[in-house]
Amino acid sequence: MNKKGFIFDLDGVIVDTAKYHFLAWKKLANDLGIDFTEEENEQLKGVSRVKSLEKILDWGNKSISDEKFTALMAKKNDDYLSHIAEMDESEILIDVPRILNFLRERNQPVSLGSASKNARTILERVNLMDYFNAIVDGNDVSKAKPDPEVFLIAAELLGVKPENCLVFEDSVAGVEAANIANMISIGIGDKSVLGHANYIFKDFTEISNEFINSLITN
Ligand code: BG6
Ligand code: MG
Repeated sequence: MNKKGFIFDLDGVIVDTAKYHFLAWKKLANDLGIDFTEEENEQLKGVSRVKSLEKILDWGNKSISDEKFTALMAKKNDDYLSHIAEMDESEILIDVPRILNFLRERNQPVSLGSASKNARTILERVNLMDYFNAIVDGNDVSKAKPDPEVFLIAAELLGVKPENCLVFEDSVAGVEAANIANMISIGIGDKSVLGHANYIFKDFTEISNEFINSLITN
């Protein structure tokens, strides 16, 4: 039987948490007298907490001490955690369970490939942990997307060659990482943002079981 490695990003692909990252960064930036647009926010998606703060400070032309940097990262995370504290299964994005169930029925290896250090907490909170054969998150990598490290580790854990892996991603950096890893990138979101993906869908309602089947057998 054919085996492909299916790798899912978390924020903005499995759960609707990209909006909470945006709100928390925006609040922190505004407190520093820095503003950024939703368009600029696309550059923060998929990248690590450290990289995100570096970018925001860069936009505002601000330099701060290491101590302040660490304190601001903690502040952003506390704010983010307050948004997800009440999180439940209603935050799972549409049709994600159908796809995960289909992959399970077809006996396909599935991994998480997320930049977030909160990934395990979130998967537990929304009760999806059992669908994953491997979990690679922000605690397991040293290089942020678009570096392919997170996806290459996932492929290794699944025992599937990178060229036989498929990555679902909502971020510019994540699609780039998948492409660099020599995997098939499937963008979830807007064509104008994710034009570099091999396939692009608005959301999982546009992805049929037949399409997943074709990915497995091709
Ligand atoms: C990614 C998000 O999944 O995780 C980014 O798209 C976020 O917005 C990154 O900065 C790191 O997440 P966390 O939860 O460790 O701060
Ligand atoms: Mg994402």
